[in-house]
Amino acid sequence: MDSPFDVLHLDPGADDEAVKQAYRRRVKEAHPDHGGSKAEFQRVRAAYEAIKAGETLPKSWPEPEVEEETEPEDQDPLVEYLDYEVLADNGWELTDEDLFEKAAAANLDSEDYGEFRVEERDTLLEAAEEHGFTWPFSCRGGACANCAVIVVEGDLSLPVSHVLPSEMTDRGIRLSCVGEPITDDLKVVYNVKHLPDLDELRLPPGPYEWASDD
Ligand code: FES
Repeated sequence: MDSPFDVLHLDPGADDEAVKQAYRRRVKEAHPDHGGSKAEFQRVRAAYEAIKAGETLPKSWPEPEVEEETEPEDQDPLVEYLDYEVLADNGWELTDEDLFEKAAAANLDSEDYGEFRVEERDTLLEAAEEHGFTWPFSCRGGACANCAVIVVEGDLSLPVSHVLPSEMTDRGIRLSCVGEPITDDLKVVYNVKHLPDLDELRLPPGPYEWASDD
C-alpha cells in the first residue's frame, strides 16, 4: 500500500513547504481536465490531508472517500459559489440581483452551488480542491484565464503579475488559482472561462510549465 508521501512523490520527512509544492503539482496531474481522474484527484487530496494530520505510515493512509478534514475556523472567510453553467441551464443572468437567492432555493448539487470556508493562506482554487471540487485551471500561476471566477460580492486578491486586463478586473473577474479572500464573505460564480472575452486568454488543458512556484 502506498504511503501518503508515495502518492505525492515525496521522500518521507519532507518539510511543509515541499509537501505543499508537491501537492500543487500532483493535484494538477490528477485533475480530470489534465488526464487524471476524479478518483486520482481525491487520492492526492486525501494524501495531502493525511500528511497535514501527521499520518505518514502506509497502514494509516486513508482511502480516497474519507472526508476527515481539519475543522475550519469560524472566522475563516466564507465563500458561496455557483457554477456558471447552471445559469444557462436555468435562464439566469450574471446581472440578476437575486442570483444567489435563486441558486439557494433551487436544490442544486453541491458541485454546482454551496459554500465553504477558505483557510488562511489558501487560494480560492486550493480551498475548492480541499473540499473535493475539481474546479477548472491550467497554469496555476496567473498566466491564463482557465480558473477565472466572477466575484459578485466581496473580493479576492490579485497578484501584481497576472493576465487579466483592467477592463476585466473592473468587472469583478479574478483568478482563483492565485486569489485569496480579502473580505470575510464572498459570492463567486466559477467556471466562467468560456465567457467570450476570457476565451482568448485560455490555455487548452495540458502539461504546462509552472508560471510561478508560489
Ligand atoms: Fe491559469 Fe489560474 S489556472 S491563471
